Amino acid sequence: MRRILSGILVFVCFITLHTSAAETPGPLKSFKPGELWPDTDGVHINAHGGGILVHENTYYWFGEHKTEGRRGNNAWVGVRCYSSKDLYNWKNEGVALSVVKDDPSHDITAGSIIERPKVIYNAKTGKFVMWFHLELRGKGYTAARAGVAVADKVTGPYQYLYSLRPNAGVWPENATEEDKQRGKENFLARDFKGGQMSRDMTLFVDDDGKAYHIYSAEENYTLNISLLTDDYLKPAGKYVRVFPRGHMEAPTIFKHNGLYYFIGSECTGWNPNPAHSAVAKSIWGPWKELGNPCQGKKAETTFDSQSTYVLPLMNKPDCFIFMADRWRPQNAIDGRYVWLPIEFEDNRPILRWRDEWDLSVFDSKP
Ligand code: DGJ
Repeated sequence: MRRILSGILVFVCFITLHTSAAETPGPLKSFKPGELWPDTDGVHINAHGGGILVHENTYYWFGEHKTEGRRGNNAWVGVRCYSSKDLYNWKNEGVALSVVKDDPSHDITAGSIIERPKVIYNAKTGKFVMWFHLELRGKGYTAARAGVAVADKVTGPYQYLYSLRPNAGVWPENATEEDKQRGKENFLARDFKGGQMSRDMTLFVDDDGKAYHIYSAEENYTLNISLLTDDYLKPAGKYVRVFPRGHMEAPTIFKHNGLYYFIGSECTGWNPNPAHSAVAKSIWGPWKELGNPCQGKKAETTFDSQSTYVLPLMNKPDCFIFMADRWRPQNAIDGRYVWLPIEFEDNRPILRWRDEWDLSVFDSKP
């Protein structure tokens, strides 16, 4: 009897060990665009419409914390932060900016819309500065404001400062006299006094430390590139309109070989559409359109995704990852991430689908 019992015990131990070994996958070693992406706790990463800050040899990914179902597209939690040393394995660092739960009139009350958060570090003030697209609770997408928050520590907590419509009372550098005339559908002139609409957005810090806020303005018809003050907290009062009537959103900007590159999308709500790219010698333009950077199957839908950020790699100069979202508006938390290496051909950024890839693709500079 004893023998049988110890036999059973050995068998049970073997099965338990075997199963737990099979269930505990080791660290990730590759990217699998569009698939579930478990963090180091095994939970699908929840940082949509995100961007990445490199700080002290670590990558920090900030993004929209989405919740279950359709209402999960609104902000019920806030902006989440993850950290990683290798870009494959991400540790959940918690909620960097929390929605306000006890004040329904607060700008970032639970149920408002907080999208596309981006964080940059200001070396002069020692502060981490977060900007995001804010829509007020119950007002759909009509508020079109930019929210600003700051923190002393990269992972937060971020303290909400205010929201604004950028560049109130300021004409863009490249506005013509005709642009300044009020008329039907002249949204630039309509919003001159109160500030320009600011929806999809990103931030870009140039080599000289100057930072820019790039946002969809004029009912999404035109993008603005707007200089920030030296503390990165406000628009500095200098901006240009780019791609007027181009109807673009999801902007990203990066710098390669001394040129400024743009990748963005068209405007079709949560549905994917073809990406657009452009290049300029100065961030102020003129910007020359380069067409859809995607090639191959599903190029016309950006491989079923929409741009959110272009990440320049640490310690690998001139290597960039295109980051995009595959939205799942019916169950927002299930949104997926599409990350692809940017290749360059004839000074044009090119994106090609890969089922699975790792950073070794940059060893030969794709
Ligand atoms: C597309 C934008 O890029 C997203 O950030 C979000 O605002 C959706 N539209 C909402 O429909």
